[in-house]
Amino acid sequence: MDHIPILNLKPQLAALRGEIQSAMDEVLDATAFINGPAVRAFESAAAEYLGVRHAVGLNSGTDALVIGLRALGIGPGDEVITSPFSFFATAESISAVGATPVFVDIDEESFNIDVSLIEAAITERTKAILPVHLFGRPAQMDALLALARTNGLTVLEDCAQSIGARYGSGADDAPRQTGSLGDAGAFSFFPTKNLGAYGDGGLFVTDSDELAQTARKLSNHGSIERYRNEILGYNSRLDSLQAAVLNVKLPHLDTWNNARRAVAGRYGELLGDIPGVLTPEITPGHVFHQYTVRLTEVDPDGGRDRVVERMSAAGVSAMVYYPLPQDELPVYAGRFPACPVSHRLGSQVISLPIWPELEGETQARVAQALAQAL
Ligand SMILES: Cc1ncc(COP(=O)(O)O)c(C=O)c1O
Repeated sequence: MDHIPILNLKPQLAALRGEIQSAMDEVLDATAFINGPAVRAFESAAAEYLGVRHAVGLNSGTDALVIGLRALGIGPGDEVITSPFSFFATAESISAVGATPVFVDIDEESFNIDVSLIEAAITERTKAILPVHLFGRPAQMDALLALARTNGLTVLEDCAQSIGARYGSGADDAPRQTGSLGDAGAFSFFPTKNLGAYGDGGLFVTDSDELAQTARKLSNHGSIERYRNEILGYNSRLDSLQAAVLNVKLPHLDTWNNARRAVAGRYGELLGDIPGVLTPEITPGHVFHQYTVRLTEVDPDGGRDRVVERMSAAGVSAMVYYPLPQDELPVYAGRFPACPVSHRLGSQVISLPIWPELEGETQARVAQALAQAL
């Protein structure tokens, strides 16, 4: 039997290959490789889809965070509150602008920052909160934004894993896209993301004219007008070939995200009765970039890793996002107070194969491999 990968991008490519090739051919024919019409078209389509006034195409999600933080005026001496349980680019971007990440522990149900712990972490130096909508599940933005407002902090959302996810609490409060809730949002188009390019790509979004103008300037060597460089910036633009791919894919994103939610629902049924497996809640706005369960009864010292090895031997890939919270990575180790929940979850989490076209029969094999490995 075939090995089941963690992600299979081939069905999506097979369905769209002709359209993607024509869109790429258009870029080749126009020889407009940087900042061409495909980039402008994608920026306006993305802004409309996300419900924001401005979208600035960039080189990567990491650059969207770095440029976003700089546009918000964050730099040396400032503190930025964020989640320890994320990919390193989150904290790395804070350090890259010379600021200090302040890690606030997570809520074990959602894997996202525990908003009830934020207030105690605010100091005179705190300038911003950088929530991560991890695995595609929106963080608790109502409470987080209220805290930010009361304390005069700006909010930059890390939406690298959450494109298309919606957040809204009340009945008459229509759910809004992540990235449109705070002052600004940062997205990634790394190929494995829910909206993936065929190389690196990112996007900075905001409703503020000023922030958008600064982000665009920063992305282009600090200049809007050619050869009039006003500030020190970067070379970080979304290239036209990636924008061409994204233009074809964006109209399908909601369908793919709905399919991911259906896959998650089926996993919930298949895994719900296995003792020691805690499955994630299926919330309506969750876009399941990852389907991540907790193995609550394994030995914290390597038990989970042995489960992953056994599953692999049975022909099923499973991944661990993330074995070490950011504060415990070698680059930061020993510099920050412990975050016990995120530390514990780091030894329990396991992400299972998920992609929109994943079939029920394959999921049943995954569930069986997990049950046997346990
Ligand atoms: C939560 C998070 N933030 C930031 C990034 C950085 O995005 P990129 O790889 O496009 O630089 C990623 C993804 O790789 C991510 O998962």
